[in-house]
Amino acid sequence: MGYFSDTNQSLALEIIGRYPRPKSAVIPLLHLAQEQEGWVTREAMLQIADLTGVTPAEVLGTGSFYEMFKFHPVGRYMVNVCTNISCQLLGGEELLDHVESTLGAGAGDTTEDGMFTVEDVECVAACTEGPCFTVNYRYFHRATPGVFDEVVADLREGRSPIQRGAAGDSGDMPEHGRLGRVRQEIPAGRRAGVVPPEQAGEQPVWLSSTAEVDTSG
Ligand code: FES
Repeated sequence: MGYFSDTNQSLALEIIGRYPRPKSAVIPLLHLAQEQEGWVTREAMLQIADLTGVTPAEVLGTGSFYEMFKFHPVGRYMVNVCTNISCQLLGGEELLDHVESTLGAGAGDTTEDGMFTVEDVECVAACTEGPCFTVNYRYFHRATPGVFDEVVADLREGRSPIQRGAAGDSGDMPEHGRLGRVRQEIPAGRRAGVVPPEQAGEQPVWLSSTAEVDTSG
């Protein structure tokens, strides 16, 4: 029996069909696996390898390069607190201390109820807005312990904490694994997987030796 649900198995085959070679779908299928379970299980990696014609080690080797893929169980909400230099100067370490003591979980740990996993992270590219933390990759800028407490209370009581100031976002806070709200749909006629590249009749323009390069700018 495979890892993917019936719905996700169909989706996995559709995703593979978008690419000239099945192995190009490894990363999208890792996202799909993480969406199904909240993390990437061993069974998921085995099935992705089977579907894409690569080894399980190659699936792990590809996915483990990326921080967002988790290969162990994590909470429904990933709380990432930045303690890199800009945030550190503005109270990032104190914020992390507060997060750890409030949740009763140190960096790298998950709360007993499986709701939160805490991570002490490097710069998340919002240095002018420090200190900041993210919850399931939704940003909270210029954060205070009080804001964090409100976010936790919202999530525990089933409310969206987005109105607390998650930057550039609106609506609900999806659980870990469901990072996108809109699944990409590519019409069949626009998929790349029509033929393998070596069988394509025309070279893409960027491969052509006669392609003109505009150096005027
Ligand atoms: S140092 Fe915290 S976002 Fe860059």
